[in-house]
Amino acid sequence: MRIRRGTQEVRLRIHDSIEHLRAQVRDNRTSGRPIALVPTMGYLHDGHLELIRHASRLAPDVYVSVFVNRLQFGPTEDFARYPRDLHRDSAMAEAAGATDLFAPGVEELTPEGTRVRIVPGHLSDHLCGRSRPGHFAGVLTIVAKLFNLVQPDVAVFGWKDAQQLIIINRMVEELNFPVRIEGVETVREPDGLAMSSRNTYLTDEQRLQAPAIYRALCRGRDMALANPRVDLSAVERQIADEITSSTSGRVDYVQAVSRTDLQPLVRFEPGNTMIAAAVFLGSTRLIDNVRF
Ligand code: PAF
Repeated sequence: MRIRRGTQEVRLRIHDSIEHLRAQVRDNRTSGRPIALVPTMGYLHDGHLELIRHASRLAPDVYVSVFVNRLQFGPTEDFARYPRDLHRDSAMAEAAGATDLFAPGVEELTPEGTRVRIVPGHLSDHLCGRSRPGHFAGVLTIVAKLFNLVQPDVAVFGWKDAQQLIIINRMVEELNFPVRIEGVETVREPDGLAMSSRNTYLTDEQRLQAPAIYRALCRGRDMALANPRVDLSAVERQIADEITSSTSGRVDYVQAVSRTDLQPLVRFEPGNTMIAAAVFLGSTRLIDNVRF
């Protein structure tokens, strides 16, 4: 597949080393071509493709990184079995409008002995930050490295990982990274399940149950909208009960938080409310959220 830039057609450029990537970034800088970056851990699905398509409307050159980042996985999590298929990712990224794919090896980007971390502070006190200690420090550290290497004008992330997006925004603001962050709405399967590379772990039965998470979140949101004075902890309980009764899953958390500082909310605040959930179906942990 070829990519059209103006009257020129370009093939996807694949960079597996920092040195190779940097040479291309220098070329962008000297010719004044803005860069959009879409960081991913690969095994692309339609949600990622939507991020890439969005990025290609923002800048002529779209860099997609594919890197399963060991810094953001806990010792008992799925780093080793996380799905990987670079060949498939390259073809999909190119078709969606990527011009450059950065796919370094683990040692290239995070050599043994990598010690420095960027810590997110109180924004990781709740939700996934609470269940996955160290996770967001791992995410921020790698995202900061990618920003330094790719020097993007804009970077695109999905709202499915809402806490991640909010924490990255805060890092950019507080550490003065010269990059604009864009959030793109969650892409869903026809039955409502949020797209995720981890959906591939689900058994047929779990896959049938999984849409119950979003259904329950939507019902919780509607309950709060219908009765704005409702105690949000009752809404959280109703959502958790609904998920437990309609799936074989274990609820990790269901929590209503403020979108600005990710702290728990007792009452609905219009435009600033997010209810997020994480649920284990077997050993697969799925997350989703509604914002209203
Ligand atoms: O959202 C992801 O896939 C990852 O957390 C990210 C942002 C690529 C960092 O490794």
